[in-house]
Amino acid sequence: MVLAVEVEGLRKEYGRTVAVADVSFTVEPGEIFGLLGPNGSGKTTTVECVQGLRRADAGRIRVLGLDPATDATRLRRLVGSQLQDSALPDRLRVGEALELFAAISPHGPPWRHLLEEWGLADQRRTAFADLSGGQRQRLFVALALVSDPRLVVLDEMTTGLDPAARRVAWNLVEAVRDRGTTVVLVTHFMDEAHRLCDRVAVLSRGRVLATGTPAALIAAHQPETVVRFTAPPDADVSFLRGVGGVRDVARVDGTGVLVRGSGPLLARVGHALVERGLEPEDLAGSVPSLEDAYLALTGGAAEDGAA
Ligand SMILES: Nc1ncnc2c1ncn2[C@@H]1O[C@H](COP(=O)(O)OP(=O)(O)OP(=O)(O)O)[C@@H](O)[C@H]1O
Ligand SMILES: [Mg+2]
Repeated sequence: MVLAVEVEGLRKEYGRTVAVADVSFTVEPGEIFGLLGPNGSGKTTTVECVQGLRRADAGRIRVLGLDPATDATRLRRLVGSQLQDSALPDRLRVGEALELFAAISPHGPPWRHLLEEWGLADQRRTAFADLSGGQRQRLFVALALVSDPRLVVLDEMTTGLDPAARRVAWNLVEAVRDRGTTVVLVTHFMDEAHRLCDRVAVLSRGRVLATGTPAALIAAHQPETVVRFTAPPDADVSFLRGVGGVRDVARVDGTGVLVRGSGPLLARVGHALVERGLEPEDLAGSVPSLEDAYLALTGGAAEDGAA
């Protein structure tokens, strides 16, 4: 079977910035594949090259068996895109936008149905300029799906959506996948990636750090129990290294403390903290999550200089 996406040795520079140094991954047909990684790690550049919107400097890309650099026109009919930075003419109404996009691809799902699904029925006559951030975002996803694409690329689909709308979006994306569309999902939400993605790739500085199912990544990169809490930056928490079962104590983002280890870690750490007069209100223990694995992999640091 033809792979939905094949990327091998992708490289893309913008002037002196190496946006993508060396990225390889494959996406199976019918899969929801996640691209994760810090700000500036090259996710958007990668999916833009995959969609033929940018020309790669090096590497090989195949999308549904086609080369996006030379088959861009054919691919446009097969691939739906929700871009991270999109805009429509201010005065274009929601219904008009969907009708317009639907006209290009007569075989797609009825656009009125998408309006209902994506919670935009009441905004049908609203001009693009008057939509809220979340409504715009939902419109872009609906537009990406209106052609009934074989592959859909969603770059930060749920950024700006309220919690209820996010959950609705997850269900809809699963329904899209269940109808046979392959999904490439760029996201910063680890709960979203865990819930939706069959496999993910974690990018950092334009390279792939790890690829696999969320469960495999968690098992490989964060097999421990984790306890977190916040404490003032000047509070000395190094004594926790002496608590039974603790393997590692790390500061995250200034006030966060991450304790890793095994055994009944939450009870032991809590006891030790209270003995030292520290009573953090947010002390919490967790079984390993994709977020823990992601932070362990990427080092928890921003890549573009942001704090
Ligand atoms: N058009 C451009 N011109 C110059 N540099 C760019 C351009 N687009 C992206 N870059 C740079 O390339 C690098 C990768 O950017 P990219 O948008 O691919 O990252 P990203 O992983 O999508 O980040 P985010 O999570 O913030 O969306 C960054 O350093 C960015 O500043
Ligand atoms: Mg991006």
